[in-house]
Amino acid sequence: MRDRLAEFLNQPLTVGNRTISGRLVLAPMTHLGNIAMRELLASFGGFGLLFSEMCSARRIPHENREASDLFRWRDQELPHLVCQIVGFDPATMARAARTVQEAGFFGVDLNFGCSVAAICSRSCGAALLKQPSLAAAIVKAVRRSVSIPVFVKFRTGWQDSPLAAVDLARRFEAAGADALTFHPRVAPDRRSRPPRWEYIGLVKQAVSIPVFGNGNVFSRADCITMLSMTGCDGIALGRMAVARPWVFSEWANGLSVGPNIYGSTALRLTDLLPLYFDDVRAVRRFKKFALYFAANFRFGHTLYTRIFNASDMEAIRSILRSFFQTPPDLTMRPNMNLFNN
Ligand SMILES: Cc1cc2nc3c(=O)[nH]c(=O)nc-3n(C[C@H](O)[C@H](O)[C@H](O)COP(=O)(O)O)c2cc1C
Repeated sequence: MRDRLAEFLNQPLTVGNRTISGRLVLAPMTHLGNIAMRELLASFGGFGLLFSEMCSARRIPHENREASDLFRWRDQELPHLVCQIVGFDPATMARAARTVQEAGFFGVDLNFGCSVAAICSRSCGAALLKQPSLAAAIVKAVRRSVSIPVFVKFRTGWQDSPLAAVDLARRFEAAGADALTFHPRVAPDRRSRPPRWEYIGLVKQAVSIPVFGNGNVFSRADCITMLSMTGCDGIALGRMAVARPWVFSEWANGLSVGPNIYGSTALRLTDLLPLYFDDVRAVRRFKKFALYFAANFRFGHTLYTRIFNASDMEAIRSILRSFFQTPPDLTMRPNMNLFNN
């Protein structure tokens, strides 16, 4: 029998002119939400949407799907795949969104949340929250150029002001956004301080489009708390979906998992990554995954360090086989020393 959380997570949600079948979605994550990881996630199911890695709006119209590391997908995932784009110029963002629509994606997501220096120094990502009129002009330009759902992912802003976040949300809705993903942290705080979930509730009350809450949802109990505290329409899961790629299915479909799932899932990723990336890139992506995956275990640091020092995928496979020879010593909540990277 489905529990009440699963029932809620399986309620359809209308976003713009389309409907999704579930309310748990994968948050966009550079280097983590790659095509191989998404294939792994799809093998478990349970999500309503997957968001791609952040793609440069300037580059998208010139990208070759077969050669690009980022603007890349499997045709089967297009009905539930949203492409995240980053940029600062409305016309460039609109052009990129058109390419995304022509490629057949479910929707396009505008990155107004990334606060790493390399992005903000180019006036992109969270830097746009300092210029709300420009951010809204981008939403408007993208809205005019496509009919697919337009998502906006943003954070509180550069000051810890819920009023500013509410103002941004209203502007994005007025400019034509179909849904918001809100991560209630101030830029440039990466993930050191807890997100202010109560701000999600304020944003939700301020707009009539769907709002996905995001930030530090690590358990079913967190999920229930965020939903009841904020009234948000859905939840975007980031790191937890990397640490446990079956988590969508566990929470939304009642999938029951045993300790063997950890080893078999990590080994499956060692096989999937080389289907899409050369050795160096595949190993680099596995190491990034390993940081969050290792946070599941009491001796996660040891596992992560071994994988980090491995020279190739075969070496990684033998580290995994040896680590999982005995059932892993699991932690209830992820090890934050690893997770907060
Ligand atoms: C390694 C990593 C890369 C990320 N890359 C992006 C990105 O490209 N675009 C984006 O909007 N957010 C990005 N994020 C932020 C996540 O989407 C999410 O907001 C954040 O991890 C908080 O959610 P969580 O606590 O569920 O992980 C990234 C986060 C991580 C850990």
